[in-house]
Formats: sequence, structure tokens, C-alpha cells
Amino acid sequence: MKGVILAGGTGSRLYPLTRVTNKHLLPVYDRPMIFYPIETLVEGGIRDILLVTGGQSAGDFLRLLGNGKDFGLKHINYTYQEGEGGIADALRLAEYFVDAEPVCVVLGDNIIEGNIRKVCDAFRSNPSGAHILLKQVPDPQRFGVPVLDGNKVVRIEEKPAEPASPYAVTGIYFYDPSVFDRIRTLKPSARGELEITDVNNSYIRDGKLGYSILDGWWTDAGTFESLLRANNLVAESQARRLDKGVSAGPECARAER
Ligand code: G1P
Repeated sequence: MKGVILAGGTGSRLYPLTRVTNKHLLPVYDRPMIFYPIETLVEGGIRDILLVTGGQSAGDFLRLLGNGKDFGLKHINYTYQEGEGGIADALRLAEYFVDAEPVCVVLGDNIIEGNIRKVCDAFRSNPSGAHILLKQVPDPQRFGVPVLDGNKVVRIEEKPAEPASPYAVTGIYFYDPSVFDRIRTLKPSARGELEITDVNNSYIRDGKLGYSILDGWWTDAGTFESLLRANNLVAESQARRLDKGVSAGPECARAER
């Protein structure tokens, strides 16, 4: 299974922090934000990773990550998104890389406490349709929100004023190779972007979308509130792990204390 990290966009909700750099290069506690989604994929057993980025700081990713040695990788693939077409538009650039394999897509500002090993293994052994991860949140109106009928997702609504459930669709998605044909059928949304929610709804219409509830905390980091929250959650988790004498993440990827 391939892994794709989407780390483009203007990060306009974080201006002026993102005026001269890419959102995913900002610090989250002791590491740049982009380290966390890479770790999510690597801990899920995925080593073939494409980073999609854009804007003026794209070269900084190469300087920061190189070939991925800090994560035990031999190589990282990079591609460049021109302009601002949305998440599904960025994913479209991964088609040649994914090359008809199943793929796990992670949004570059999504950080999790645990790991996705189990769901990666499950999708790898039955890579058909799509699989999403849900998490109960206090503010679902900020996210894609599943409409549930019993334990079935019947629709996903993007940033609904009145959320139909207390869950957010997290930015970790598993897709079969039909995802690229589905993206080709999309029309831009009201905010002028190709929406990942429309991709997921296309799988739902075909009865091909499964889901799990993510264990441990989850946060995005694309607003001032969520970036602060991400910093605090990571700091607290690391303090807990250090208390237990467990190392947190790749040793070489973090500062010595
Ligand atoms: C995006 C997706 C949304 C998802 C969220 C997760 O929102 O559109 O469905 O719940 O990521 O972080 P955005 O952060 O682009 O507003």
C-alpha cells in the first residue's frame, strides 16, 4: 500500500504565521508539523510515501526531510501542486505514484495520539472501496460530518451548520485505485475546491465506504485554536511517555533533552 501526505494550501486561516512559510513546517511542540503525518504512515507500516506540497516554501520540505532518514526511510517522493484546488485536486497529482495500488492518504495537519496499524493491515488484506476514520469531537461543524443511519454512514456533510452526528471525518483516508476516476467526475464546491468529502460520498453512493472510530486523541492544526491544542496534546503525551520511560517517535527526529 502506498502513502500520500497532502501538505499544500495557503494556510490562510493561520495568517500571518503562514505568510512566509508553509503551514506544515510550523512547529508542533518539538517538531515540525509534517513529521507527525509521516510518522503516522511509517507506524502504519507504509514506507512508500509521496508528499504533495506547493507554494513558495516547497523547497524547504526537501531541506528538512531529505530522503526520510529521520524516519528510517531510504527515500521520500515529492510532487508540487500548482495553485489552490483543494484536497481532492492535490490527491489527483498522486495518480502516477499510486499506480493502481491501494493508498492511505493523510492530511498534513492531522495529528493522532495512537497509530493506524490495525486499519492499515485490514485495508491491505481487503483493499476494496474506501475506509475512513471517525472521531467524536466537541465542534463537528468545523469538519466533514457523517450522517449515520444505525451504524451505516449514509452521507457526509462538509462543515454543516447543524451537524447530524457528533463525529468528525478525520483526515486519514484509505482508497482503492478507483479514487482517481472518482476525482475526475467532481465539480468544484462553493469554496471553489474539489472536496475530499465529495470523493467519500461517491464511495457511499456505490455502497463501498467503511469506517472505524479512531482510538486516542486526534486533532487538526489549521487554525490558531487547533494549532495550540495540537501543541498541548503532543506535549502532554510526550510527558506521559517520558514518565513511563517510553521513547516518543524516532529518536533522531527529536531534540535531545
Ligand atoms: C478537511 C476536510 C474535512 C475534514 C478535515 C479534517 O477540512 O475537508 O472533511 O474533516 O479536513 O482535518 P479543511 O481542514 O480543509 O477545512
